[in-house]
Amino acid sequence: MDIYALLKSMTLEEKLAQMSQYGTSVLDSGAADDVTGPARDLGLTAEHIAAAGSTLGSGTAEQVIAMQKAHLEKDPNKIPLLFMRDVIHGYRTIYPIPLGMGATWDEKIVYDCCRMAAKESAVSGITVNFSPMVDLVRDCRWGRNMESTGEDAWYNSRMGAVMVKGYQGDDLKGKYDIAACVKHFAAYGAAESGRDYNTTDMSDYTFYEHYLPAYRAAVDAGVEMVMTSFNALNGVPCAGNQWLVNDLLRGEWGFDGVVISDWNSFYEMINHGFIENSKQAAEKAVNGGTDIEMMSSTYIHHMKALIDEGKVRKEQIDRAVLRILRLKEKLGLFENPLRATSVEEEAKYCLCEEHRTLARRAAEQAAVLLKNEGVLPLSENIKSIAVIGPFAACGMNGWWSCQGDTKESVSVVDGLRAALPHAEITCTAGCTDGLHDSSNDTMLEKAIAAAREAEAVILCLGEQEGWSGEGNSRADVGLPAAQKELIRHVVAANPRTAVLLFNGRPLALGDVINDAPAFFTMWQPGTEGGSAAANLLLGRVNFNGHLTMSFPYHVGQAPIYYNRMNTGRPKPGDDSTMGYVSRYVDCPNAPLFPFGYGLSYTTFAYGKPILSANTLKKGSGEQVTLSVTVKNTGYVAGTTVVQLYIRDLVASLVRPVRELRGYERITLAPGEERTVTFTVEEDMLAFRTESGKIEAETGDFHLWAASDAASGEPVPLTLV
Ligand code: NOJ
Repeated sequence: MDIYALLKSMTLEEKLAQMSQYGTSVLDSGAADDVTGPARDLGLTAEHIAAAGSTLGSGTAEQVIAMQKAHLEKDPNKIPLLFMRDVIHGYRTIYPIPLGMGATWDEKIVYDCCRMAAKESAVSGITVNFSPMVDLVRDCRWGRNMESTGEDAWYNSRMGAVMVKGYQGDDLKGKYDIAACVKHFAAYGAAESGRDYNTTDMSDYTFYEHYLPAYRAAVDAGVEMVMTSFNALNGVPCAGNQWLVNDLLRGEWGFDGVVISDWNSFYEMINHGFIENSKQAAEKAVNGGTDIEMMSSTYIHHMKALIDEGKVRKEQIDRAVLRILRLKEKLGLFENPLRATSVEEEAKYCLCEEHRTLARRAAEQAAVLLKNEGVLPLSENIKSIAVIGPFAACGMNGWWSCQGDTKESVSVVDGLRAALPHAEITCTAGCTDGLHDSSNDTMLEKAIAAAREAEAVILCLGEQEGWSGEGNSRADVGLPAAQKELIRHVVAANPRTAVLLFNGRPLALGDVINDAPAFFTMWQPGTEGGSAAANLLLGRVNFNGHLTMSFPYHVGQAPIYYNRMNTGRPKPGDDSTMGYVSRYVDCPNAPLFPFGYGLSYTTFAYGKPILSANTLKKGSGEQVTLSVTVKNTGYVAGTTVVQLYIRDLVASLVRPVRELRGYERITLAPGEERTVTFTVEEDMLAFRTESGKIEAETGDFHLWAASDAASGEPVPLTLV
C-alpha cells in the first residue's frame, strides 16, 4: 500500500476520523458506553463513524471479524480499523498483576507471559495493546500500583523493555505480534496523596532520575505507541503538554510512532482549568503532537476551524495521519485486515493447557514469602486443612483482567483439593467479606470450629479485586478490622495457620505481622492462582519472589521507597530514640519489608563481597568486579536474587542511600555455593548532574551485593 498516495487522496474529515478513537459500542450503535472511563456524548454523524480509524474494547474474534468487515464496507477509503485493548496481565488466560510479575525478577517469564498475551490477543483480533504501564510507583495508596513493576526506575526500565519485545516480537511481522503502547506519559504514578488522577508536581531532578527512564527504555526498545497521562505535571496537563510530547518525546528521544491520549483527557483539560473549551483542547493537543484522541471528538469538531484560523497547520494533521497509517501498514492490515483473528485459533489457544501451565508457573514465581515460623511447607501426608477467609473459594484475577473470567480460575480450596485428593479440605469462605468492621459471629464461630478440627489452616485474606486498579485508591492500606480479628481468633484456635494475602499494592500490615506465624502474598495471581498456591503450600515448588515495592509498616509512611535521600539529620538506627532527627515518634522509619525482600523454604548465606580493585579511573573504560559467594544453607533447593546496589557518598547533587544497578537469580541445591560476579563500570555510577549531562563524579562510592535493599555490608570504591 502506498500510504503517501492514500493520504493525499483523503479529505480532512477522513484524516480527522483516523485521529479519533471510539469504543466498540460507538461503532456498533453510535452510543458511547462507559468502558474504562465515563462516556460522554461525542456528537458524531454516521460519516464520522464510518471513517473511524480505531476502536477500543472489543472482546472476541467473532466481534472483530464482524466489525472489521462492516467497517471496510462503509469506510470510503477502505482503511482497516486498529483494535486496541488493555491486555495488562493476560487476555483470557490471566497471569499475575504486573506488580507480581515484577516480583519474579525473571525477565524470561515476563517475556513468555507477554508473548502468550499477545498470541491470545492477536487471535481474538487485538492489534494494539495499552501496555506496558511503566509508571514509577512509590505510594501504596495509589490503586494503580498493581499495573507497575515497582518503585525502581532501573528495574522498571528493564521490565518495560522486555514487555515491549514480548508483545511486539522482533518486528511486528510475526502472526501473533501486536503493537505495544507504553503509558502513562508522564509521571502519572506520582499522584499526590496516592489519589488517582491527582496532580503531580516534581523537580527536574526527580523527574529525569526516577520517573522518565522507563518510558525512555520502552521507546528505545521500539514501542510503537505512547499514551499521555491524565495528570497535570508541574501545572500543565500531560494531554496538552507540548514540551513533553513534541520537545522531549519526539524531539530529544526521536520517537516517531503514534501518540494517543488517555480516555477523554482532552476534555479533562477544561476541568484542570487549563483551557476553556474543547476547541482549545484540540489546538493544544494536536500542536503538542498527539495523533489520536481516545473517547473524545475535539479534532473532528474543531480542526477545520483551527486550520482556517491559522492555529493549526495542515502538515501537522498529515504527519499524524501518516504515523497512524504507517502503523497499520507495519501490522500488515492493508493486505490482511483481519490479521491473525480467527474463531478457531481463539478457541484453540485461549486458556489452552500450555497457557494455563505458564500462568501457574508465573503465579508460583511471583509469590513472596514474608514470614515463616515453622508452619510452611505443609506435609504431603497432611490429613486435613481448613481453608478460611473471604478469598478461599474464588478465583483472584485482579483488576484489568481483560477477557479473564474468575469462574475459569482456580481458587485456593480447589487447588488444594486437586493437589491432595485424599486429605479433607474444608472451606469456610465468606466468614467476612473484608468490607465490614464487625465480624459476623456465626461465620466466625464456624471458622474457629473448622480451624480447631484441622491439622493446619490457610487464611485467605487481603484485598478484593476492586480495591486496586484505576480509580481505586485507598487511604488505609492495612487489612480490614474484620480480617485482623479473624486472624487472632483463628490462630488462637490453631497456631498452625498461614495467612495467604491477595493484594494489588503493598499492604501496611503493621503489628498484625506478629499475629500469625506465616504470611505470604500472591498478589492477584490470575487463572491458576489456586494451583500455584497448593504447590507453594506443599513445598512442591519453592518461594523465590522478591518485592519490588517496599511494604510500609504504616500507611502514614507513604510515599516510602528504598532509594530515598539520607537527609541532614538521619535517624542513627532503626531502634534509636534520639530526638531532633528525621523520624516518626509513633512508627519506625523503615518499611516492614524492604525492596528486594523475599524468603524461601531454604536459607542462603551471603559471603563478604570482594571487589577486584578499590579504584576505578574516570574516562578509562576500566571495569572492576564485585563478587559474592552465596551458599544454600538449608535442606531444599532454592532460588535467591543477588542484588547489586551502589551509593555515591558525596556528589554535587545529593544521591540516594542505595541504587539498584544489577541482579542475578541463582538456583542452588542444598549445600551448594556459587560465586556471583557483577561487572561495575563508570556508567553505573553516573547520574544527571545539574548541567543536564549524565556523568559520574570522582569520589567515594559504596557497593553492596545483597539479598535486599536493607541488608549486606558496603564495600568502598573510589572513582579517581
Ligand atoms: C484509562 C486508563 O488510564 C488507561 O490506562 C487505559 O489504557 C485507557 N483508559 C483505555 O482503557
